[in-house]
Amino acid sequence: MAESWVNYAERIGVDLHLELSGPGGRRAALTRALREAVRGGRLAPGTRLPPYRSLAADLGVARNTVADAYAELVAEGWLTARQGSGTRVAERARPLRRAVGAPAQAPARAGGPRHDLRQGRPDASAFPRAAWAASYRRALQAAPSEAFGPGDPAGRRELRETLAEYLARARGVRTEPDRIVICSGFAHALRLLFGRDAPGSTGGAGGAGGPAGGGVLRGPLAVEAYGLGFHRDLLSAAGVRTVPLPLDEHGARVVALGPERAVLLTPAHQFPTGGPLGPERRVAVIDWARARGSVVLEDDYDGEFRYDRRPVGALQGLDPERVIHIGSVSKSLSPALRLGWMVLPERYVEPVLAAKGEREGWASVPDQLALADFVACGSYDRHVRRMRQRYRGRRDRLVAALAERAPHIEVTGIAAGLHAVLRLPPGTERTVVEAAARRGVALDGLAAFRHPDGPASAGDGLVVGYAAPADHAYGAALEALCEVLAAA
Ligand SMILES: Cc1ncc(COP(=O)(O)O)c(C=O)c1O
Repeated sequence: MAESWVNYAERIGVDLHLELSGPGGRRAALTRALREAVRGGRLAPGTRLPPYRSLAADLGVARNTVADAYAELVAEGWLTARQGSGTRVAERARPLRRAVGAPAQAPARAGGPRHDLRQGRPDASAFPRAAWAASYRRALQAAPSEAFGPGDPAGRRELRETLAEYLARARGVRTEPDRIVICSGFAHALRLLFGRDAPGSTGGAGGAGGPAGGGVLRGPLAVEAYGLGFHRDLLSAAGVRTVPLPLDEHGARVVALGPERAVLLTPAHQFPTGGPLGPERRVAVIDWARARGSVVLEDDYDGEFRYDRRPVGALQGLDPERVIHIGSVSKSLSPALRLGWMVLPERYVEPVLAAKGEREGWASVPDQLALADFVACGSYDRHVRRMRQRYRGRRDRLVAALAERAPHIEVTGIAAGLHAVLRLPPGTERTVVEAAARRGVALDGLAAFRHPDGPASAGDGLVVGYAAPADHAYGAALEALCEVLAAA
């Protein structure tokens, strides 16, 4: 393709090197070359571009080719065209400032670990782009015009209907679409329930254990002694006091429940220690809630991923009037979608809707419609099945590698989810996490999840998120982890 030094020094005061190469013909090549010249700062804001005819003659292209390229860049905002003053580089098309000699490409975000074994992250490289795009396209084509107006705070009916069926089939949830409220994930559900996003909420105004201003539920809230600090912080910012419940291999010791108004549990797979809530405890916690008039919040964050047997059904199935079941696509599809759901006892539906406000303010309606299609056409089931196999394979590789390379390290918890807990000899957790960091392996120790007022520590351990790396990177991450553990 043509390459030309165009000397417009006399006419526009710049020497401009335009290389017309790459796919798509001359018009596309010229558009690209001019855009790069503006974006990179070689054509400064305000610079007047040559008339079509002269540039066309210099480059040996048709006049229309130049006219079309200019028009496209005007439409994109890189150039402006005004009667009488010709075509100029737009004033706001300021190039990104960068230090002399700095690379033109933005570097990958600083601080990304070489080997990512952090919990809570699905394999982002496995996002089902084609199937999601197909669902999105179908959903947009089928959507009535009103879908593009302000959204219903309950969420799109199409999604609530699909979820009611899916959750009944896959998780044993007993519900109907009118009991489901769409939200932007588990964290958002907590905010809605405890008042941070409620109208008139004053956040921590209630003080420790006091009412969360405007919230649907009030503290104190019993929580598992190990859990996500982010969720505890969110609750405490809403003025909700959390009371830690001790844990053992059967999950939370619900006999220790007292006069709390609610309890938050991860019954399918305790986060992060990894045991399921034992059958007697499932019954006992429902009995407690009935006797006290309390409610159980069920965080079903990875309930679809069980590898040793079929997943245990949701606790909600035992008593839909005593359990708020909360789920999201953050583990199954992507935490970037910010889509989740709350399955509510009837008495909480109106208060939660009131907390959400008059219109949907969080969960994109087109995304909701796409998810409804994605579930209804079977893509969600197919994706979960595929990821279940992939994660199961990774967990098996982790267990096998440790048995060979670091046999003193025990893998605890059930074969489920996206993470495993490795038990460490007492007093070694911190050193091992630091050694891993030096080797480029990002992961957390168990201590990072401990409730500050909780009972004695559950021992030393590592929480290994085996889902996070892309498939091709998992072997190297595992190797690096084994090296660290073998040396520990
Ligand atoms: C314990 C636990 N609960 C819930 C979630 C889901 O959170 P969200 O739906 O806000 O992304 C996660 C995800 O990392 C989690 O680890």
